[in-house]
Amino acid sequence: MSLDHDLHDDRILILDFGSQYTQLIARRVRELGVYCEIYPWDADFDRIAGFLPKGIILSGGPESTLEGEAPELDLRVLDLEVPILGICYGMQTLAKQLGGKVENVGKSEFGYAMVRCHGHTDLLRDIQDHVTAEGHGMLDVWMSHGDRVAEMPPGFKLMCSSDSAPIAGMADESRRIYGLQFHPEVTHTRKGGEILGRFVHEICGCASDWVPENIVDYSVQKLREQIGDGHVILGLSGGVDSSVVAALLHRAIGDQLTCIFVDNGLLRYREGDQVMATFAEHMGVKVIRIDAEQRFLDALEGVTDPERKRKIIGNLFIEIFEEEAKKHNDAAFLAQGTIYPDVIESAGASTGKAHLIKSHHNVGGLPEHMKLELVEPLRELFKDEVRRVGLELGLPHEMVYRHPFPGPGLGVRILGEVKKEYADLLRLADHIFIDELWKHELYEKTSQAFTVFLPVKSVGVTGDGRRYDYVVALRAVETIDFMTARWAHLPYEFLDHVSRRIMNEIDGIARVVYDISGKPPATIEWE
Ligand code: XMP
Repeated sequence: MSLDHDLHDDRILILDFGSQYTQLIARRVRELGVYCEIYPWDADFDRIAGFLPKGIILSGGPESTLEGEAPELDLRVLDLEVPILGICYGMQTLAKQLGGKVENVGKSEFGYAMVRCHGHTDLLRDIQDHVTAEGHGMLDVWMSHGDRVAEMPPGFKLMCSSDSAPIAGMADESRRIYGLQFHPEVTHTRKGGEILGRFVHEICGCASDWVPENIVDYSVQKLREQIGDGHVILGLSGGVDSSVVAALLHRAIGDQLTCIFVDNGLLRYREGDQVMATFAEHMGVKVIRIDAEQRFLDALEGVTDPERKRKIIGNLFIEIFEEEAKKHNDAAFLAQGTIYPDVIESAGASTGKAHLIKSHHNVGGLPEHMKLELVEPLRELFKDEVRRVGLELGLPHEMVYRHPFPGPGLGVRILGEVKKEYADLLRLADHIFIDELWKHELYEKTSQAFTVFLPVKSVGVTGDGRRYDYVVALRAVETIDFMTARWAHLPYEFLDHVSRRIMNEIDGIARVVYDISGKPPATIEWE
């Protein structure tokens, strides 16, 4: 199927009032097949109008409309005459700004709630989880708010109510303005997807063009237009993003792509060989593998400070990448795996906080003096979309759904000084852990799992003798955003099986421990 129009034509704008769920709203809308972008609530009105949205969603936010200089919607947005859906704070600011009232009853509501639907609005008509004996439609929803709407603005009618939020939803259908106190974007609101689907498809009239097949077609066409018959180089790491960029570019421009894969010796078990097998052997991508293990080990010798290790690994990567890239002086383009969350200006971004967090995690950057034009085919995509595009391009499921792996690799999973002996032991132990997670169908239930090497010797007994060998820690977490995380409650039998395998099969490891620290206060990595 090829579209005869641009797949971005039917689009929704999300104005971010600072909610932790804003990106989730965007992902849900995209899952419904509709392109959307996130702008901060105070974005220039011209920019908002210029985006030509078919509908606007106002996110929730941490502020109270009752306090100080609360963020407000630029009411010129109403002149665009497109449907508006305000969620939580978004609904409260609509209520307040359009002539209604918001109040604080001194009690927050957080968690499940049941709301009763009223009035058969276009947004909620026939969407319900249960029907009461009296015939009222009821929804199971997720609430998270302090304030609530006390009085609706003129022209609005009640759309739904709950015990603690008598006005849990309101609508002015003549202007197609809707407000919901609960969060349709979180999965705990069981019919949330249906409600958002009703808004974007039926009320805003958006088609479902935003699907992996169309994204691939569109990206291939755009890449060909941008690159022409030029040459592109790409740093391939084996991670999801650079892998999908490689597959996409290969489809678009074939041999005009050269991938540079720096094997720093700090990769996971057989990872380097797998990258070569998938891309070079299987797909026919031009990949130059640089075996730089010794250079990295030499540079790290005697270094124990985690931040210094990170710097050394990051800088050496750039140095080696540049050395190789220089040999390809016909290349005019440098491809990168930047994704949408890296480019979103969130409502808090003006404080610079978002930027600070990111720089910490970025390994390598664009060598400026090389004068290469950037190619960033994933700039519009969320991670889950990158994965689906990867599958569409034929990448193996296990590669596309791989847990994140830090740029400095095992360099920050070997505590203190990095040595080859440690890296080899760690790779074997980690391989057993990951292999068993897949076999027990636990891999995709955890967000990140890995093994950490502790360079201390602990006592053990084998047969008649005592032995003093190293310790490894297993780490597995569940998280949505990696900013907070819960340690994964893996079954005892499973942990028992993994620890036995590691101690029996690997000569040099005498003890296995499981990390039961949440983030915060612990971090996910040990360094
Ligand atoms: P922490 O340890 O900060 O990890 O809780 C959060 C997420 O970031 C990853 N991480 C890194 N990624 N370079 C990276 O590319 C780094 O230096 C780095 N440190 C941590 C970590 O694996 C987790 O997914």
